[in-house]
Amino acid sequence: MPPRKIIIDTDPGQDDAAAIMLALASPELDVLGITAVAGNVPLALTARNAGMISEICGRGDVAVFAGADRPLQRKLVTAEHVHGKTGLDGVEPFEPARPLEPMHAVDFIIETLREHPAGDVTLCALGPLTNIATVIERAPGVVPKIREIVLMGGGFFEGGNITPSAEFNIYVDPEAARIVFNSGAPITMMPLDVTHKVLTTRSRVERLRANGNRPSLVMADMLEFFERYDEHKYGTDGGPLHDPTVVAWLIDPGMFDGRRSNVEIETGSDLTLGATVVDWWKVTGRPENAFVVRNVDADRFFDLFIDRVGRL
Ligand code: RIB
Ligand code: CA
Repeated sequence: MPPRKIIIDTDPGQDDAAAIMLALASPELDVLGITAVAGNVPLALTARNAGMISEICGRGDVAVFAGADRPLQRKLVTAEHVHGKTGLDGVEPFEPARPLEPMHAVDFIIETLREHPAGDVTLCALGPLTNIATVIERAPGVVPKIREIVLMGGGFFEGGNITPSAEFNIYVDPEAARIVFNSGAPITMMPLDVTHKVLTTRSRVERLRANGNRPSLVMADMLEFFERYDEHKYGTDGGPLHDPTVVAWLIDPGMFDGRRSNVEIETGSDLTLGATVVDWWKVTGRPENAFVVRNVDADRFFDLFIDRVGRL
């Protein structure tokens, strides 16, 4: 079976770094490029961080493209309180040897979809959906060519994390999220309902560190910074490792379960801006526009993650 072609759209972020490492370590996947978006930290940092992670993984061959530096209509909201000033606190920052590509991320995604057969390319969205929505708005003809959009975002039974009702990626650019969920593209959604079940417990981080290779050691240091905020907030052993669930879905979907549901995005109310309203019990009759994942075998997830990062 040839590897699955993916583009990773991301706002690194330590958990984004974990997702990128898992993808680069997995022979089932062919990372065509990494596109950066403003989110956890401003674009200049998310783009630099994406290059850093690829280099740490020994994959300086992977092209990194800078995309949107702000949401479609709103001021950028960032999350340094979670990820630190650099967005990757826990690792010493450096300028990647490979410079950013001159092409804009949105143009790269459009060109890649145009050049590949329909159903060939999967988009993995790990941050605010500004780049993906801009692709859809600027080149609607490429939407039917998208094999799947697998995105980390939203929350329903679990509520929100940046507000009581909204998850960060959706909250930062709710208008972009609405465009994506209404695009007709096949969507798989990894909300907080599932990502809050994959916690970076002490034993798991130590297992990762015991791999002994540089990517594992760097990842363990980043997680020890990243998890402190959520451990304090939720009173748990470890914090949720959100973004790699997107990549794990592509490698071993059997570790997850969920159902097709209608998902709508709140863009009008100040109180609930960015909420993902999931019709889990099918009471509205609205079209089922996403496969919403709710559960995961967390041990199977971390066995995969730790094993693969140890191979880099
Ligand atoms: O709410 C969690 C999401 O927001 C993750 O993707 C994290 O990296 C941040 O982007
Ligand atoms: Ca992210």
